Amino acid sequence: MDEVIRGKVGAGVDSERSNAQPTAAGVGAAASAGVYPRELERPVVLRDGAYLRIRPIRPDDEPRLVDLYGRLSDYTAYQRFFTVMRRLPPTWYHFFANVDYRRRLALVAERDTATGSELVGVGRYEPSDEEGTAEVALVVQDGWQGRGLGTLLLEDVLSAAQARGIGRFLAYVLADNIRMLRLLMTRVDVLERKTEEGVVALTFTPRGDGPRQAPSLTANEPREGAGS
Ligand SMILES: CC(C)(COP(=O)(O)OP(=O)(O)OC[C@H]1O[C@@H](n2cnc3c(N)ncnc32)[C@H](O)[C@@H]1OP(=O)(O)O)[C@@H](O)C(=O)NCCC(=O)NCCS
Repeated sequence: MDEVIRGKVGAGVDSERSNAQPTAAGVGAAASAGVYPRELERPVVLRDGAYLRIRPIRPDDEPRLVDLYGRLSDYTAYQRFFTVMRRLPPTWYHFFANVDYRRRLALVAERDTATGSELVGVGRYEPSDEEGTAEVALVVQDGWQGRGLGTLLLEDVLSAAQARGIGRFLAYVLADNIRMLRLLMTRVDVLERKTEEGVVALTFTPRGDGPRQAPSLTANEPREGAGS
């Protein structure tokens, strides 16, 4: 892994703690595509009025994922992947962009630019070692953080998972990642919290009554449990 320039690979490929990253078995499974769930597409308006589109990831997002990774600060990349790489390795972006929309699902937030669409955030769930529990991971491009997008991606990912029969979740978060911890603590019901080697493992269920029905929620509208 010559792309790794800093940080530990401990939570990386084939490690016990996956951090929603490719494993040898997972890369094999990446090829099995499912039916594209168009119902998960929706336009969203962030707190500051910015327009984005949330939609399920597609195989042709591979180059857009590489570009997104290239725009992340080292800090953001480390908070998400627990390592920093010069670029996203091909096995990783192939794995990330190719999901079956059932056991593995990712949603992207995209915006239109003069040269085409650009991704500014990704939320996903992956099967975990625990039966019936999916691992959740999010990343939002630095300039788009703190504007409500992470909240929307989390809500949509959990809702999509619930609609597919998944009700229990796991997230690995660095202990100093106050933003992600706060995002989770204020919006999910934590069942278990374990800290090991600076990584907090949170097991949780979504707060609320199951999958969201109305596809029109925006960051401007009151959110359940958001405390604002
Ligand atoms: C964690 C992350 C996904 C959150 O996305 P975001 O778009 O910044 O989140 P939001 O704007 O919806 O804010 C969510 C909560 O974060 C907190 N937050 C937002 N901006 C903050 C800031 N500048 N400082 C501290 N907390 C902040 C708030 O508690 C906010 O909740 P509120 O709306 O009730 O105030 C994003 O910051 C990110 O990509 N971080 C790097 C990758 C990462 O940490 N991933 C998680 C590990 S899987």
